[in-house]
Amino acid sequence: MALCRTLGLLKPDITANPVFLRQVLAQIHDHPTLGIVHQKAVQWSAQDAQSFYAEHRGKFFYQRLCDYMTSGPFMALILEGPEAIRNWRNLIGPTHPIRARLSQPHTLRAQFGLTDTRNSFHGSDSIDTALREIKFFFPELQL
Ligand code: TYD
Ligand code: MG
Repeated sequence: MALCRTLGLLKPDITANPVFLRQVLAQIHDHPTLGIVHQKAVQWSAQDAQSFYAEHRGKFFYQRLCDYMTSGPFMALILEGPEAIRNWRNLIGPTHPIRARLSQPHTLRAQFGLTDTRNSFHGSDSIDTALREIKFFFPELQL
């Protein structure tokens, strides 16, 4: 099976809490196939958030999503492995942590997420998105 890469974010609430961050990195480390191949700390301006989340402009959560993502530094990861895009989204779980707790309590959003907006993690949703998002955060890498 071909190796695949995806873009993951550990959003500001996780990055700000060393205990949570350590627990999350340990769970990623324990995943049988996903590996972190690049990581960096990022602090966004409002413009960065608006650009990355342009597809959500106009939705009811857009402003509070941009506020959350500019509230402090967060970690951007490139994760690699077979089916990395799907496996990372499976590991983080459903968008809404409350729903995740009911249906998939082992997932990262179920364990750490607070609300639909403060859901602690991001994962690219397709090959095209992953390529675009990896370029967005790691423009210095040759792809
Ligand atoms: P979306 O791409 O739908 O979810 P996912 O992150 O699972 O791919 O939405 C992007 C982000 O927007 C989501 O992680 C958090 C925020 N959001 C809300 O705050 N409320 C919502 O009801 C939805 C759907 C998203
Ligand atoms: Mg999405």
